Amino acid sequence: MSDDISVKVFRFDPETEKEGKFVEYKVPYVDGMVVLDTVRYVEEKIDPTISIRWNCKAGKCGSCSAEINGRPSLMCKTRVEEVGKNITVAPMAAFPLIKDLVTDVSKNWEIARKIPMFTPKEGLEKPWRINPKDVERSKEFKRCIECFLCMDVCHVVREHFTPYFGPRHIVKAASWDMHPLDGLDRSRMLNEEGGMGYCNITKCCTEVCPEHIKITDNAIIQEKERAVDRQYDPIAMLIKNRRHK
Ligand code: SF4
Ligand code: F3S
Ligand code: FES
Repeated sequence: MSDDISVKVFRFDPETEKEGKFVEYKVPYVDGMVVLDTVRYVEEKIDPTISIRWNCKAGKCGSCSAEINGRPSLMCKTRVEEVGKNITVAPMAAFPLIKDLVTDVSKNWEIARKIPMFTPKEGLEKPWRINPKDVERSKEFKRCIECFLCMDVCHVVREHFTPYFGPRHIVKAASWDMHPLDGLDRSRMLNEEGGMGYCNITKCCTEVCPEHIKITDNAIIQEKERAVDRQYDPIAMLIKNRRHK
């Protein structure tokens, strides 16, 4: 690889511009560098006004999400040698743009507040005992770092957002629904208020998840099946109706 790489970074300043544009920078290549290093180089050596969000540089805080050569990715986990010497870095398109690469992801906190938290089953005696095997399923979802790359890539979120909660939030609901001591069922609200029916299982969310969570197979499809069982299973409906008599 030659010494210089070309990094085109999307620049937008809401105080001076109506729309943004890509600006090209030349950055010296160093073995092992990641895309975040290239943007940090621009910030330190070329233009300190560039706005980026990052924190851990270890793929764990979920802050440095962006679209690298069009693919939603973490800047700190994407090596330059993987993407080549001509790189474009754009902000996540699914969220409102604040400045340069920084987007407003606060909509996610609004959705998160709507989903009921872990609620223990009624009558559980303490101390709670759990067979480690029974927590395996929900443990996968706890790996989520809230990078929102799955939300960014999802065409339903991009095109509609409301009323669809989106993949990250189904993962969160599933982490509690599949906990052996949880006493709630969130599938119905995911379907009704959360618009889960809009998801047509394209699996793009699973492809971009940096934590390799099987979002579609293990969370979304499971929650969809639960919702169908709970809402349309005639036997379940009969039992439920009897209980209410
Ligand atoms: Fe990021 Fe994966 Fe969590 Fe989605 S599920 S927010 S892609 S870590
Ligand atoms: Fe979107 Fe994932 Fe469903 S990308 S359409 S949430 S499978
Ligand atoms: Fe923390 Fe990239 S800087 S995930």
